[in-house]
Amino acid sequence: MKLNVLVLGSGGREHALCDKISRSPRLEKFFCAPGSSAISRLARCVHFDILNPATVLEFAVKNKINLVVVGPEVPLAAGVSDALGKRKIACFGPTRRAARLESSKAFAKEFMKKYEIPTAHFRAFQSFSSVSRYLSQITERPLVVKASGLAGGKGVFVCENKRAALLAAKKLMEERIFKDAGDKVVIEECLTGPELSVMGLTDGRSFVLLPLSRDHKRLKDRDLGPNTGGMGAFAPVSVSTKIKEEIEKIFKKTLTGIRREKMNYRGLLYCGLMLTEDGPKVLEFNCRFGDPETQAVLPLMDSDLLPFLWATSQKKLKGLKLKVRKKTSVCVNLVSEGYPEKIKIGRRISGLEKKHEGAQIFHCGTVLENGEWKSAGGRVLSVVGVGSNLKDARQKAYGGADAILFQGRAFRRDIAKERIFRQKLK
Ligand code: AMP
Ligand code: GLY
Repeated sequence: MKLNVLVLGSGGREHALCDKISRSPRLEKFFCAPGSSAISRLARCVHFDILNPATVLEFAVKNKINLVVVGPEVPLAAGVSDALGKRKIACFGPTRRAARLESSKAFAKEFMKKYEIPTAHFRAFQSFSSVSRYLSQITERPLVVKASGLAGGKGVFVCENKRAALLAAKKLMEERIFKDAGDKVVIEECLTGPELSVMGLTDGRSFVLLPLSRDHKRLKDRDLGPNTGGMGAFAPVSVSTKIKEEIEKIFKKTLTGIRREKMNYRGLLYCGLMLTEDGPKVLEFNCRFGDPETQAVLPLMDSDLLPFLWATSQKKLKGLKLKVRKKTSVCVNLVSEGYPEKIKIGRRISGLEKKHEGAQIFHCGTVLENGEWKSAGGRVLSVVGVGSNLKDARQKAYGGADAILFQGRAFRRDIAKERIFRQKLK
């Protein structure tokens, strides 16, 4: 069966998804809302409010859409999947209730505790005074303070001491820098170890893991500076059989919880893991493809992605095997001046139409105006190199990154450079 597909979103992740879907022989009509200038070369971009479930449903019905693929988390938290489900339109993306695994960190932590999924010890708070009281009672130590709600990957503060933790909680709960996302705050123990992003397609019963990847969240080289939405990624990360088994165990326990809680989960489950001395622990769940991990992982997929997305939405994932190229990919994000705080946009971008030896470019925040590409967001471009090893892939990615210029352009020089990832993680 040929499929009419609608992708929701406009960033680098959606550009990579659209790129992959557009190559599928199973594809009939292809729409993206709102999409971007770059995506418009692959799909028909349409404009309506993707955060309004009724509007998404109306478009899907009118255009005989068979499958809606949701890129970002906010439409999921708004209930887009629920609205489509009521009219039997398939959606790759969980229902609003299931998406709480991402949209409420307090809920996700309780879920992990209940289903014995390894994670950092935590406490959840609903008022600044209770945070303040708690901090005054504990001994000095590093702590992690998190906005419970959605904050675009920027609501997490790793704090050296209690004073910094109190300040972070104040920013979230009193200054309300992320509005009601900071109404509840989670404070957890600070873990250490290499981090790993695990993405798996799941229909609530079976799961298919994609190649493991590593995201670089901090703004600056050597993991300095504030957390961002992501400065780059690479894949695959190779891990020992023991870690692989532990990861599978985490997925199985999560699916058990999803079933027991009667959540309707058909989509992507993302586990942000830290490999601690006591084994892998879950830092966070996301209910959608990671950004920029997707830009690094999809170019490694040999299989046609669309039948996998469709099978997930139809609860027919069982037995499907993903074919992966024996290659390595590195994604370097070029970001705007001032990112992740006050960004400067509208800067003319040069070098985009050049051939970039081996580098593939996904647009995160750009616009084509009168034949000129301009920056239009915090994250501007993902430059991805695919090679036979990390060194080769890095060379290609950085070759591309260096050739693309815009005023105030910033990127990390050390993506995929950590020594620890050059060998199998044990
Ligand atoms: P999250 O959005 O929850 O994944 O957090 C963003 C980043 O903050 C993670 O990728 C980690 O680098 C860091 N982080 C989150 N939780 C912890 C923790 N419990 N211990 C240490 N670092 C953490
Ligand atoms: N790269 C982390 C995320 O997508 O949230």
